[in-house]
Amino acid sequence: MRPARGFLEESNEHGPPMRKPLIAGNWKMHKTLGEAIDYVMAFREAVEDVIAVDVLLCVPAPLCSPLAKLLKESNIQLGAQNLYWEEKGAFTGEVSGPMLESVGCNYVIVGHSERRHVFGETDEDVNRKLRAALAAYLTPIFCIGETLAEREADETNDVLTRQVAEGLKGFSADEIAKMVVAYEPVWAIGTGQTATPNQANETQRVVRELVKAQAGEEVAGALRILYGGSVKPDNIVELMREPEIDGALVGGASLGVDAFVRIVTYYETTEAETQR
Ligand code: PGA
Repeated sequence: MRPARGFLEESNEHGPPMRKPLIAGNWKMHKTLGEAIDYVMAFREAVEDVIAVDVLLCVPAPLCSPLAKLLKESNIQLGAQNLYWEEKGAFTGEVSGPMLESVGCNYVIVGHSERRHVFGETDEDVNRKLRAALAAYLTPIFCIGETLAEREADETNDVLTRQVAEGLKGFSADEIAKMVVAYEPVWAIGTGQTATPNQANETQRVVRELVKAQAGEEVAGALRILYGGSVKPDNIVELMREPEIDGALVGGASLGVDAFVRIVTYYETTEAETQR
């Protein structure tokens, strides 16, 4: 069986381009400042030796500035969960890319399914937000994924084709090279229902092909495509064995330090432990 991938163990000699795994927590709308500080103090210590994967916390906007200070000298990157596409102006309640960058964010989630389905974000909005993120020197995590109804109607590939084409409209290969993609089947988010590793892998292969058609083989081959949707300590190892899965975007299971540390350090899980 293929070992779960940890960057350092992977040889690049004959295989696909090396893609360092990225494990990202998405706290969604959880944690007050006090709770967040307690979490980060414990988490920072628990993962301080991790170099095999990139570690990222995507937190609510008000927590970005205080947590950036705590994460400054650490190996944990900081991201926001959304941004508005204008730089500034009369847009009450919105937060811009330059604001996020100025308080120490490196990443921002764009087009998460909750933004699309709860707040009505369109592919065009997502496209503008991706542009705004790059303009502010933030790495966007561009989220795509089909609903259950779409999967059952056999429309998964059509939906992903549309989301990728519209989301990436007008972007050059160089710009796409600065992004991360997250495939999150909507039916698997927060439901406890995960795509099987094979299902996720096959879908992500399609996504990489779609990116390749626009950005070329080199950029598509180096692009990190994360899987998201009910990722847990118990399924991360088998997901990470798949060649097209370059990391995870983790919601619920990133809220507790212990569970998220186990996910981040999945590559240390022994074969015996995965059999249990
Ligand atoms: P979940 O959320 O891990 O709670 O399913 C994933 C996400 O929405 O990013």
